[in-house]
Amino acid sequence: MNQNKVRILVVDDDPFITKMLPLKLSSRGYSVETASDGAEALKKYVSGAENIKLIISDMNMPVMNGLDLMKEVRKLDADIPIIILTVNNEISVAVEAMNCGANGYVLKDGNILTTIFTSVEKGLEEYYLKKKNTQLMADLAQKNKELEKSNQELVKLNQLKNKFLGIAAHDLRNPLTSIRGLSELLVNETFGSLTPEQEEYIRIIHTASNDMLMLVNDLLDVSVIEGGNLELKIKKGSLTKMLEDRIKLSKVIAEKKGIVIHKDFPELPDIMFDSNRIAQAFDNFAGNAIKFSPLGANIYVTAKQEGDKIRVSVRDEGPGLSLEDQSRLFSEFQRLSPQPTDGERSTGLGLAIVKKIIEAHQGTLEVHSLLGSGSVFSFKIPMETRGPKK
Ligand SMILES: Nc1ncnc2c1ncn2[C@@H]1O[C@H](COP(=O)(O)OP(=O)(O)OP(=O)(O)O)[C@@H](O)[C@H]1O
Ligand SMILES: [Mg+2]
Repeated sequence: MNQNKVRILVVDDDPFITKMLPLKLSSRGYSVETASDGAEALKKYVSGAENIKLIISDMNMPVMNGLDLMKEVRKLDADIPIIILTVNNEISVAVEAMNCGANGYVLKDGNILTTIFTSVEKGLEEYYLKKKNTQLMADLAQKNKELEKSNQELVKLNQLKNKFLGIAAHDLRNPLTSIRGLSELLVNETFGSLTPEQEEYIRIIHTASNDMLMLVNDLLDVSVIEGGNLELKIKKGSLTKMLEDRIKLSKVIAEKKGIVIHKDFPELPDIMFDSNRIAQAFDNFAGNAIKFSPLGANIYVTAKQEGDKIRVSVRDEGPGLSLEDQSRLFSEFQRLSPQPTDGERSTGLGLAIVKKIIEAHQGTLEVHSLLGSGSVFSFKIPMETRGPKK
């Protein structure tokens, strides 16, 4: 702190104080103004308000007393430190002054020329801290404004990205469907037999176009969901029937890896849900369990009623997930430590889509996993879900 610049106003009708305090304070580098009553002090303060950083004032003075002076000054500056001078029998007046916004008081006794410094330093320190705080708050408000602005820009850019993603994925879908369909006809030797070499290459084209089509479909889903356009087709139906159908399909894929899928659930009451979307969510759970489990492992599918909700769980004996991996599972494009065990496709989009589907059903997702001990993925949806909250 540069004390040379700090100007203090000393107000007292006692000439000893207005003589001695300035002498002492000047010796510490402060510059001092004096006044012998409140009115004179106020005049000086108003004309030099820029410079005066602290006021030391007596309470009982002619014309305008210390309390009135303080009230007037406070109207102009709520923070400037004001130290009250008081004699022993005026303590209650000092207390009243403190209640009215004085920052401290100093007794006019034999020690005043020492004690005044402590009060002045403390008052100034508080004052500068307060000013710094006010400045910080203003900076923070400004930064918040800027953040809000860049946030809005990001939201706009994200919308643009989703739109672009949607258009690109949509336009790629038709030609890809043709390539896949035509290569399938060729693989099946619909137009005549193939040489082994032709068959090998056409199979590669067929598999690649199939993978690309699935990726494009996922991207289209992301663009639709992120764009806030996921429209559920909610109908009353049997979740268990849907699960049984999907498990049959999963079993075909699992068998190729010697993986056995066990199901254990009772016939549950019909519920309101979007059967295709929930099937998509389940397929991702089951697909992941198959994809990341070692050959010959087991997968357990359960479904049960919990109050007015139904929980579907898929447990596997795969590699499990670290806590770090678990925290990233449901964001887009997260391919984590576990890798497919048989060269399967892995884009890292599936669980992000599942999350949106389940949330649209006002449901919740849970993962319980221990590194090296498999994972349990489950979702819980209300039986009477009406789709996303508007
Ligand atoms: N059951 C599981 N066991 C171990 N790791 C898993 C399991 N399920 C998901 N993961 C990890 O989480 C990542 C994200 O899963 P997610 O389903 O989103 O993507 P993906 O299966 O890699 O690709 P996609 O589903 O888009 O085809 C996976 O890449 C894998 O590392
Ligand atoms: Mg997946």
